[in-house]
Amino acid sequence: ESLFVGVDLGGTSIKVGLCNDAGDLIRKYEGPTQADGGADAVLSNIAAYVKELVPPGTPEWDAVKGVGIGIAGFLNIPEGIIDFSPNLPFKNVPVTQIMEEKIGKPIKINNDANVAALGEAWGGAGKNIPNCVCYTLGTGVGGGIILNNRLIEGSTGMAGELGHLSIVADLEAIQCGCGKTGCLETVSSATGIIRMARDAVERGDRTSLTFVEGDLTAKDVFDAAKGGDEVSQRIVSRAAFYLGKSMAAVAVVVNPQRFIVGGGVSRAGEFLFAQIREVFDKLTPGNAKSGVEIVAAQLGNDAGVVGAAGLFLRA
Ligand code: BGC
Ligand code: NA
Ligand code: ZN
Repeated sequence: ESLFVGVDLGGTSIKVGLCNDAGDLIRKYEGPTQADGGADAVLSNIAAYVKELVPPGTPEWDAVKGVGIGIAGFLNIPEGIIDFSPNLPFKNVPVTQIMEEKIGKPIKINNDANVAALGEAWGGAGKNIPNCVCYTLGTGVGGGIILNNRLIEGSTGMAGELGHLSIVADLEAIQCGCGKTGCLETVSSATGIIRMARDAVERGDRTSLTFVEGDLTAKDVFDAAKGGDEVSQRIVSRAAFYLGKSMAAVAVVVNPQRFIVGGGVSRAGEFLFAQIREVFDKLTPGNAKSGVEIVAAQLGNDAGVVGAAGLFLRA
């Protein structure tokens, strides 16, 4: 039997999973990214977690035929290079070569949100939906576009970088990790939500939120909003507004049947989804809107590792 490992490299944590050749997840392991340590620390962590998941020297290790890695960042996929990452310490890193040396198995890379979209398409909310667009809302905002059952990578691998859709009106815009202003990610990621909350607290707005660095989460803001805190409600509607507006833009470009929204922030559930749908309905014309569903991801945190392992199985 052949086995495959999938790695989901995010801004905060690294998830690794072992899959069989049918793409079923056998078991998983997770550890911190430790982005502060720089590229080499992060890549060493990946290798360490993979070896924790499947100890070298065991028959299982010998059965592992490849390691697929989903990476948060702008990639040169054919060359196996991370060009740049807004939320990770990578610049021009030949990641495929480095990881082949560290792990000693064939490596394939793709964008983290792209592999999450593949995972959802194979066994989650995108199953039997040939045209769907996936959003991941976490440290950053990721996107994955599947058209006619195929992942769209674009000419330089940037297709589906929805977090950097320049959409927030310039005057209010703050700088994104990519260096530009106006990116969706600045308002709709967990990081963006926390920043807006901190700004409100520092401005002295009347809110039940208190800001302590590293201690206020996006979930706290959603909970306060659900509990009636108006400042938090404004932050959530801003995050939702720009998500809905971005979907209206995507809808007239690629006309998907379904938007699938995953990542930690999506756990806010219907409270968030209802607001996104309202904006999408208001802004999207004609048949770009009719019948389009905006649904939660089904594989939750597993979509990335399953999709990454699948880079070897179904590419
Ligand atoms: C990165 C994407 C990534 C997303 C989610 C963004 O900042 O540019 O490549 O998919 O964050 O991790
Ligand atoms: Na992507
Ligand atoms: Zn950006």
